[in-house]
Amino acid sequence: MLCARVTGRHRDGGVLKALNQLIVRTLPLVPKPIVRRIASRYVAGETLEEALRVVQRLNAEGCMATLDVLGEDVTRREETEQTVTDYLRALTAIAERGLDSNISVKLTALGLKLDAAQCRRQFARIVEAARAHGNFVRIDMEDSSVTEETIRIFLEFRERYEKVGLVLQAYLHRSAADARRVAAAGPVNVRVCKGIYVEPPEIAFQDREQIRRSYMELVESLLAGGAYVGIATHDPPLVERSVAAVRRLALPAHAYEFQMLLGVAGDLRRKLVADGHRLRVYVPYGAAWYAYSVRRLKENPSMAGHVLAGIFRPERKAASKGKS
Ligand code: FDA
Repeated sequence: MLCARVTGRHRDGGVLKALNQLIVRTLPLVPKPIVRRIASRYVAGETLEEALRVVQRLNAEGCMATLDVLGEDVTRREETEQTVTDYLRALTAIAERGLDSNISVKLTALGLKLDAAQCRRQFARIVEAARAHGNFVRIDMEDSSVTEETIRIFLEFRERYEKVGLVLQAYLHRSAADARRVAAAGPVNVRVCKGIYVEPPEIAFQDREQIRRSYMELVESLLAGGAYVGIATHDPPLVERSVAAVRRLALPAHAYEFQMLLGVAGDLRRKLVADGHRLRVYVPYGAAWYAYSVRRLKENPSMAGHVLAGIFRPERKAASKGKS
């Protein structure tokens, strides 16, 4: 009963918020199989084959995709080898099946925090494979300890291959300056997101409206400067303001794209596609699903209900995979 009441449209937002916060704090105690089941909507599966099936379905719905091999913050250099192999396989399969998908890569999965030189070598292998297939590689942005090095690596590789892109996070104070810096490199492809990692107030906005303002300043300045922008948000006011911005700038549909995460905001996604906007869905897959799934669950406003439903009604699926 409690599960049913908190999963849906509960009238008492305060209670729900407090319950969500409580569940966020206790999430590490929730057994992994339960986390896996309730977070399954956010992850395409463990194998490339499962991910390709999701991409195929999204393409049929008029969406583009970006494949992410799950994994980050590796602690052993050998682990980076498997990540590279997985990305090379993904690029080959995308090309062989004629799918509309690029790839998104986390540099800490290639050992950025262990050995920046080796990370560059591993990333170079992925970029060379993408070049051979004419495909595009997005570098995801991780926590602030690697922001500067990530931007440097982007700028280095952008000189060698045009189809490499970056992500800027609206919550970081530095992002406005970073946007100017990367735009100076020529025509760039930048995904703008709010930012998901917990960062201190000395370097990151904490206020929701402030983050929204920063988000729109980034989107508008990058678009006005001629960058191709991946507008990555499910926040309806930001989507509305971004649509207004591209109209104001009279941009054609191929000059930008919206981006959303698998399993999130399906209705908004379908509406944008129906209205003629390009839209790309971020499709993560692989065995290292836990850290990513926990981040997504924490952002889900109905998380408390899903977690309680998962614990007390284990026989029922709390959410269906990729259906959103
Ligand atoms: P917000 O979190 O306010 O969500 C708006 C609404 O969307 C919510 O009210 C809810 O309805 C719905 N929603 C959002 N998340 C949900 C969830 N998990 N489950 C159910 N509903 C949900 N971050 C980063 O630091 N580095 C990166 O490289 C990326 N890459 C990236 C790629 C893409 C394609 C997207 C869409 C996002 C990212 N992010 C990211 C994550 C991003 O920084 C941010 O944390 C999330 O997009 C959530 O922010 P929103 O703008 O959607 O707003």
